[in-house]
Amino acid sequence: SPLVVAIDGPSGSGKSSTSRGVAARLDLAYLDTGAMYRAMTWALLQHGVDLTDSDAVAVAAEKISLESGTDPAAPTIHADGVDVAEPIRSDEVTGSVSLVAAVPRVREILVDMQRATIAGSHGIVVEGRDIGSTVAPDAPVKIYLVADPAARAARRAAENGGGDAAATEQALARRDEIDSTRATSPLAKPEGAVVVDSTHMTLDEVIDAIVGIVDA
Ligand code: ADP
Ligand code: CDP
Repeated sequence: SPLVVAIDGPSGSGKSSTSRGVAARLDLAYLDTGAMYRAMTWALLQHGVDLTDSDAVAVAAEKISLESGTDPAAPTIHADGVDVAEPIRSDEVTGSVSLVAAVPRVREILVDMQRATIAGSHGIVVEGRDIGSTVAPDAPVKIYLVADPAARAARRAAENGGGDAAATEQALARRDEIDSTRATSPLAKPEGAVVVDSTHMTLDEVIDAIVGIVDA
């Protein structure tokens, strides 16, 4: 079976940038599972589904097709054939994605897709919230990437053109809370994961640290 590097952690801890860097360095594929939950949320909104109605979400989710391109140099995401790389980063999607991700049937559908992508790869870095715990519990390398809430919010705010850091920190805290307290696969350090705290590390230092753990 292919080498799997599982990287989990809260928003803004550096999962996406770090995972892409590690995959590029080690010639592995890359899968952003958060982008899949975001793309599902985008498609449900397009279909006018009431996201507070978990039964309606579960039914509608069955019919949505997602496609993830796994080149770490140029990852792609399509929903129902549409390139959704940009719209899945909108405030509307960001504000609703944790609601959709809490629906057990949605998680079953996406976890099945993620396992198929892993099985079809030559080796892959997979990032998300439940990779080491649920998607790939047998992964030989599991990282739990964390950073202080203020650092995570500052990074996210900088990305969005230096927006309101306090508001960003509140929005992150709300999402952390929903992700950490849901009944199905809540965000938590997976058993056997190595904790990496990126608060005072540069991106290159984090990539070096994780490559070192994979090579050890
Ligand atoms: P996540 O996927 O966990 O939400 P990202 O990889 O998207 O995190 O990183 C969020 C932002 O922080 C990005 O703009 C990224 O460039 C920046 N970043 C990532 N790691 C670091 C780091 N160690 N130091 C400073 N900035 C970082
Ligand atoms: O980019 P950011 O870290 O802000 O979030 P993301 O990785 O794109 O994930 C968006 C949301 O999807 C998270 O807040 C979770 O609600 C959900 N998610 C999840 O439940 N399980 C995963 N494996 C990945 C993401």
